[in-house]
Amino acid sequence: MAILEVLKYPDPRLSRIARPVEHINGDILRLVNDMLETMYAAPGVGLAANQVGAFHRIIVLDVDLENPQKNVYKLINPTIARSEGEILWEEGCLSVVDFTAEVRRAAQVEVVAVDEHEKEIKIEAAGLLAVALQHEIDHLDGRLFIDRISRLKRDLYTRKRKKMLRTGTPPPTEKPRVMI
Ligand code: NI
Repeated sequence: MAILEVLKYPDPRLSRIARPVEHINGDILRLVNDMLETMYAAPGVGLAANQVGAFHRIIVLDVDLENPQKNVYKLINPTIARSEGEILWEEGCLSVVDFTAEVRRAAQVEVVAVDEHEKEIKIEAAGLLAVALQHEIDHLDGRLFIDRISRLKRDLYTRKRKKMLRTGTPPPTEKPRVMI
C-alpha cells in the first residue's frame, strides 16, 4: 500500500472525466487499497480516483467517524440510480484547499456499483453518506463542489487560491470537520 499525492484545485486533471473499469485486475485492486490508505492519511471520509490522477471510476468512502474502518465502501463504476429530496450541507474537499461552502444535494440516494470482487452493491443513503456519494461521483465526472456554488463565491475562492499559490501562504491549520 502507498499514500498517493492528492491533486489540488486548480489542477486540470481534476476536471477530467474518469472512465468505467472494464476488468478488475491487480492494478485496480492496488489502486483501491492505495486510495483507502491515502484517504485515511489525509484524513478524509471519501476519495475519488481522479483526485490521485487515476481516471478510473472508483471511489472509496468511510463516513463512520466513530468506528473507523468498520463501514468501508470500495465502489467501482458507481451510479446514482435514484435520488430524492433536498439537503444543504457544508462541504469541504481534500482537493480544494482551505475553503468550505454549503452545497445543495439530494437528501437520499440509491447508488449501485460493484465491489472489488465484482459483486453488485446497492446502497440506500441519507445524510453525510448521501452527500459524500454525490460529491465523489461528481469527482468522477470532473466536477468539484465549487462548481455547484454561485459564480461570485467561486471567483472569490479562485482569487484567494491563486494568491495562496503565488505567495506560498500556508493554509490555516483549522480544518472542517469532514473532508470529502
Ligand atoms: Ni472531494
